[in-house]
Amino acid sequence: MSEIHSDALVVFGATGDLAYKKIFPTLQAMVKGGRLAVPVIGVAREQWDDDALRSRARESIEKYGGGVDRQAFDKLGGLMRYVGGDYTDPAIFRQLRNTLGDAERPLHYLAIPPSLFPAVAQGLGKSGCSKGARVVVEKPFGHDLASAQSLNHALHSVFEEGSIFRIDHYLGKETVQNVFYFRFVNSMFEPIWNRNYIESVQVTMAESFGITGRGRFYEETGAIRDVVQNHLLQVIAVLAMEPPVGPDNEALRDEKARVLKSIRPPGVESLVRGQYRGYRDEEGVAKGSKVETSAALRLFLDSWRWQDVPFYIRTGKCFPVTVTEVLVWLHRPPQRIFSGREFKRPDTPNYFRFRLGPDVEIAIGIRAKAAGIPGQSELVELYACKDRHELMEPYDRLLGDAMEGDTMLFSRQDEVEAAWRI
Ligand code: BG6
Repeated sequence: MSEIHSDALVVFGATGDLAYKKIFPTLQAMVKGGRLAVPVIGVAREQWDDDALRSRARESIEKYGGGVDRQAFDKLGGLMRYVGGDYTDPAIFRQLRNTLGDAERPLHYLAIPPSLFPAVAQGLGKSGCSKGARVVVEKPFGHDLASAQSLNHALHSVFEEGSIFRIDHYLGKETVQNVFYFRFVNSMFEPIWNRNYIESVQVTMAESFGITGRGRFYEETGAIRDVVQNHLLQVIAVLAMEPPVGPDNEALRDEKARVLKSIRPPGVESLVRGQYRGYRDEEGVAKGSKVETSAALRLFLDSWRWQDVPFYIRTGKCFPVTVTEVLVWLHRPPQRIFSGREFKRPDTPNYFRFRLGPDVEIAIGIRAKAAGIPGQSELVELYACKDRHELMEPYDRLLGDAMEGDTMLFSRQDEVEAAWRI
């Protein structure tokens, strides 16, 4: 981790959807928690001024940030500046450099479509705004392997890998980190965490809502690019990785990358795509659209630990519930000592259950004798963790980490490329 804290935060796309829904609420929370006290410069095409940016931030926080906290918001407002103009015009970057003043280590957050990354990276480079700077980019990083490589190339022409922070907010979730802790701070699970004991792994991300007005974005993305290529493959990486060789960031990212590289790209027989009824009537969606809003995949890892263990991913919009959960199923006992009667519901051998959202749960499913019923067992869950609240929102944690130069919870280039290959 670098010791030097970023001394300014620049948000490209300050008038856009991501800033509105996620970034402004995060900024207020950071100011409130004493984690943000440097200038915040919003950049976008619109010819706004500082006050217009502040009112947009206020509106966003009222709607998505649980309401304005007067003290924190006043502080945030005092830190905010706005720079407007065309990203292809060098003038906007000159103006940004002026507004940055004495800042020597700004963090540039590119909350803009990836097609604009090359122009912005170049502008930052030529104007001197990239000197000593870090850059945060959003997922999906590219559209496929080739485009991800060319985006990486564009960013690397200005920033070194250690200064590039590819955000995947799933890695910032307390719950996803909990999987990592559960596996590696206990010694009792490691001996069984392999193909000898584990029968299958299922990752389900169901959402009870549709595309919520994001038709244009979703038409270019679909469920697989939106959440499988990034969030859900990262969850699998954390579930399947070997213990990192040490505590440093690269050791962790090395192991996640190894998992992703070991995943065999699925054939068509291992993939199902679906679309919810009504998707084609959403704004911005083509009448005959074939974009998937749900997907199910079966993946296999070519590794000693996981050979022949299926990893299933299921995700979709407009499902009956909103829940993200991992089930790790263990093999059945080799012998049926109680003539099969103990399996009243034969689909429930032992399992580990990680509820990643909306609430936090880690449970172990075991069977015990059903009280008072001879020869029959029942399923009980032992809770390792049950907490309804996240301590810190993922964006808050990740933006704070990026400002400190801590790359651990961000995807490295080889991970992103391996995930696109899959
Ligand atoms: C985003 C996707 O990255 O993650 C959305 O673009 C999805 O489509 C969201 O709804 C889910 O995030 P969370 O944290 O609510 O599970």
